[in-house]
Amino acid sequence: MSLLLNRTTFGDPANKGKSLSKEKAHLLLNEWVLNDKLRLHMLQVAHLMKCWAEEKESLDEEDQWRWEMAGLLHDADWDQWPDQHCKKIIEELEQQNIDPEIIHAIASHGPNHFGVQPETKMDKMLYAFDELSGLIHAYSLMRPNSYEGMEVKGVKKRLKEKSFAANVSREEIVDACFRVGIEPEDAIRFIIDHQPDVQLK
Ligand SMILES: [Fe+2]
Ligand SMILES: [Fe+2]
Repeated sequence: MSLLLNRTTFGDPANKGKSLSKEKAHLLLNEWVLNDKLRLHMLQVAHLMKCWAEEKESLDEEDQWRWEMAGLLHDADWDQWPDQHCKKIIEELEQQNIDPEIIHAIASHGPNHFGVQPETKMDKMLYAFDELSGLIHAYSLMRPNSYEGMEVKGVKKRLKEKSFAANVSREEIVDACFRVGIEPEDAIRFIIDHQPDVQLK
Protein backbone atom coordinates (compact mmCIF):
# COMPACT_ATOMS: atom_id res chain seq x y z
CA MET A 1 0.00 0.00 0.00
CA SER A 2 1.47 3.33 -1.04
CA LEU A 3 0.66 6.53 0.79
CA LEU A 4 2.58 8.67 -1.69
CA LEU A 5 0.72 11.92 -2.28
CA ASN A 6 2.27 12.53 -5.71
CA ARG A 7 1.97 16.28 -5.32
CA THR A 8 4.04 18.96 -3.65
CA THR A 9 1.77 21.97 -3.34
CA PHE A 10 -1.18 22.11 -1.03
CA GLY A 11 -3.99 24.54 -0.39
CA ASP A 12 -4.53 27.96 -1.90
CA PRO A 13 -1.99 30.74 -1.14
CA ALA A 14 -4.96 33.11 -0.84
CA ASN A 15 -5.84 31.32 2.41
CA LYS A 16 -2.61 32.27 4.13
CA GLY A 17 -3.12 32.77 7.86
CA LYS A 18 -6.47 30.99 7.93
CA SER A 19 -6.97 28.28 10.51
CA LEU A 20 -9.84 26.42 12.10
CA SER A 21 -11.14 27.73 15.41
CA LYS A 22 -9.84 25.70 18.35
CA GLU A 23 -13.35 24.43 18.93
CA LYS A 24 -13.75 23.20 15.34
CA ALA A 25 -10.34 21.58 15.26
CA HIS A 26 -11.04 19.63 18.46
CA LEU A 27 -14.46 18.66 17.15
CA LEU A 28 -12.85 17.24 14.02
CA LEU A 29 -10.26 15.42 16.13
CA ASN A 30 -12.92 13.84 18.34
CA GLU A 31 -15.12 12.90 15.41
CA TRP A 32 -12.40 11.35 13.29
CA VAL A 33 -10.17 9.80 15.93
CA LEU A 34 -11.94 7.26 18.09
CA ASN A 35 -8.80 5.59 19.40
CA ASP A 36 -7.74 7.13 22.74
CA LYS A 37 -4.07 6.26 22.29
CA LEU A 38 -3.91 7.97 18.92
CA ARG A 39 -5.86 11.00 20.19
CA LEU A 40 -3.43 11.35 23.08
CA HIS A 41 -0.49 11.17 20.64
CA MET A 42 -1.99 13.97 18.56
CA LEU A 43 -2.66 16.13 21.63
CA GLN A 44 0.92 15.55 22.75
CA VAL A 45 2.42 16.52 19.41
CA ALA A 46 0.09 19.55 19.24
CA HIS A 47 1.26 20.73 22.65
CA LEU A 48 4.93 20.28 21.74
CA MET A 49 4.40 22.28 18.54
CA LYS A 50 2.68 25.10 20.42
CA CYS A 51 5.36 25.25 23.13
CA TRP A 52 8.16 25.20 20.57
CA ALA A 53 6.53 28.00 18.54
CA GLU A 54 6.18 30.07 21.69
CA GLU A 55 9.47 29.40 23.45
CA LYS A 56 11.93 28.78 20.63
CA GLU A 57 10.46 30.73 17.73
CA SER A 58 8.89 33.56 19.80
CA LEU A 59 5.78 33.48 17.63
CA ASP A 60 2.58 35.29 18.57
CA GLU A 61 -0.54 33.46 19.74
CA GLU A 62 -2.07 33.22 16.30
CA ASP A 63 1.03 31.58 14.85
CA GLN A 64 1.39 29.33 17.89
CA TRP A 65 -2.09 28.05 17.16
CA ARG A 66 -1.19 27.37 13.51
CA TRP A 67 1.71 25.20 14.71
CA GLU A 68 -0.51 23.56 17.31
CA MET A 69 -3.22 22.86 14.75
CA ALA A 70 -0.76 21.11 12.42
CA GLY A 71 0.22 18.83 15.30
CA LEU A 72 -3.35 18.31 16.42
CA LEU A 73 -4.59 17.08 13.05
CA HIS A 74 -1.52 15.45 11.48
CA ASP A 75 -2.84 11.90 12.01
CA ALA A 76 -6.57 12.73 11.91
CA ASP A 77 -7.36 10.18 9.20
CA TRP A 78 -5.07 7.40 10.49
CA ASP A 79 -7.63 5.79 12.79
CA GLN A 80 -10.55 5.25 10.41
CA TRP A 81 -8.94 5.55 6.97
CA PRO A 82 -5.34 4.30 7.30
CA ASP A 83 -5.08 3.63 3.57
CA GLN A 84 -5.89 7.30 2.92
CA HIS A 85 -3.39 8.72 5.45
CA CYS A 86 -2.77 11.74 5.14
CA LYS A 87 -4.63 12.39 1.90
CA LYS A 88 -8.03 12.61 3.52
CA ILE A 89 -7.20 15.23 6.14
CA ILE A 90 -5.36 17.29 3.51
CA GLU A 91 -8.43 17.34 1.28
CA GLU A 92 -10.64 18.22 4.21
CA LEU A 93 -8.45 21.17 5.18
CA GLU A 94 -8.21 22.33 1.57
CA GLN A 95 -11.99 22.31 1.38
CA GLN A 96 -12.15 24.35 4.56
CA ASN A 97 -9.77 26.97 3.07
CA ILE A 98 -6.99 26.44 5.57
CA ASP A 99 -3.54 28.05 5.37
CA PRO A 100 -1.31 26.11 2.91
CA GLU A 101 1.54 26.15 5.43
CA ILE A 102 -0.49 24.10 7.93
CA ILE A 103 -1.50 21.64 5.21
CA HIS A 104 2.07 21.36 3.94
CA ALA A 105 3.30 20.59 7.46
CA ILE A 106 0.80 17.74 7.70
CA ALA A 107 1.67 16.51 4.20
CA SER A 108 5.39 16.36 5.03
CA HIS A 109 5.26 14.75 8.48
CA GLY A 110 6.51 11.49 6.97
CA PRO A 111 8.66 12.25 3.93
CA ASN A 112 9.48 8.56 3.47
CA HIS A 113 5.80 7.67 3.35
CA PHE A 114 4.12 10.61 1.63
CA GLY A 115 6.98 11.74 -0.62
CA VAL A 116 6.75 15.36 0.49
CA GLN A 117 9.86 17.01 1.93
CA PRO A 118 9.64 19.13 5.11
CA GLU A 119 10.61 22.67 4.11
CA THR A 120 9.55 25.23 6.70
CA LYS A 121 10.48 25.18 10.36
CA MET A 122 6.90 24.15 11.14
CA ASP A 123 7.23 21.18 8.76
CA LYS A 124 10.52 20.08 10.23
CA MET A 125 9.48 20.33 13.86
CA LEU A 126 6.34 18.29 13.23
CA TYR A 127 8.47 15.64 11.53
CA ALA A 128 10.97 15.70 14.43
CA PHE A 129 8.41 15.55 17.24
CA ASP A 130 6.19 12.88 15.70
CA GLU A 131 8.31 9.75 16.20
CA LEU A 132 10.32 10.99 19.17
CA SER A 133 7.21 11.93 21.13
CA GLY A 134 5.82 8.43 20.63
CA LEU A 135 9.01 6.72 21.75
CA ILE A 136 9.25 8.88 24.87
CA HIS A 137 5.61 8.20 25.70
CA ALA A 138 6.17 4.45 25.33
CA TYR A 139 9.13 4.81 27.70
CA SER A 140 6.98 6.67 30.26
CA LEU A 141 4.49 3.78 30.25
CA MET A 142 7.14 1.28 31.32
CA ARG A 143 8.55 3.45 34.12
CA PRO A 144 7.02 3.14 37.59
CA ASN A 145 6.78 6.93 37.95
CA SER A 146 5.90 7.67 34.35
CA TYR A 147 7.62 10.92 33.25
CA GLU A 148 8.74 11.83 36.74
CA GLY A 149 12.53 11.88 36.98
CA MET A 150 12.93 10.80 33.35
CA GLU A 151 16.38 11.61 32.01
CA VAL A 152 17.69 12.24 28.51
CA LYS A 153 20.20 9.42 28.88
CA GLY A 154 17.40 6.96 29.69
CA VAL A 155 15.63 7.90 26.46
CA LYS A 156 18.89 7.57 24.52
CA LYS A 157 19.32 4.06 25.90
CA ARG A 158 15.84 3.14 24.63
CA LEU A 159 16.70 4.64 21.26
CA LYS A 160 19.67 2.29 20.99
CA GLU A 161 17.53 -0.71 21.97
CA LYS A 162 16.13 -1.67 18.60
CA SER A 163 13.48 -3.97 20.10
CA PHE A 164 11.98 -1.17 22.21
CA ALA A 165 9.07 0.59 20.44
CA ALA A 166 10.35 -1.17 17.34
CA ASN A 167 7.85 0.60 15.07
CA VAL A 168 9.50 3.95 15.83
CA SER A 169 12.02 4.69 13.10
CA ARG A 170 15.40 5.62 14.57
CA GLU A 171 16.60 6.74 11.13
CA GLU A 172 13.73 9.20 10.84
CA ILE A 173 14.50 10.67 14.27
CA VAL A 174 18.12 11.28 13.35
CA ASP A 175 17.14 12.60 9.91
CA ALA A 176 14.51 14.96 11.37
CA CYS A 177 16.86 16.46 13.97
CA PHE A 178 19.55 16.89 11.33
CA ARG A 179 17.11 18.74 9.06
CA VAL A 180 16.08 21.08 11.89
CA GLY A 181 19.69 21.56 12.94
CA ILE A 182 19.23 20.47 16.55
CA GLU A 183 20.83 17.71 18.58
CA PRO A 184 18.48 14.80 19.35
CA GLU A 185 19.36 15.41 23.05
CA ASP A 186 17.81 18.88 22.87
CA ALA A 187 14.62 17.63 21.28
CA ILE A 188 14.41 14.86 23.90
CA ARG A 189 14.92 17.36 26.74
CA PHE A 190 12.20 19.60 25.31
CA ILE A 191 9.75 16.70 25.09
CA ILE A 192 10.51 15.46 28.62
CA ASP A 193 9.90 19.01 29.89
CA HIS A 194 6.56 19.54 28.10
CA GLN A 195 4.90 16.25 27.27
CA PRO A 196 3.76 15.38 30.83
CA ASP A 197 1.39 18.40 30.74
CA VAL A 198 -0.89 16.58 28.31
CA GLN A 199 -3.68 14.28 29.44
CA LEU A 200 -6.78 12.92 27.78
CA LYS A 201 -9.87 14.77 28.93
FE1 LIG B 1 1.23 9.98 10.54
FE1 LIG C 1 1.93 11.01 14.43
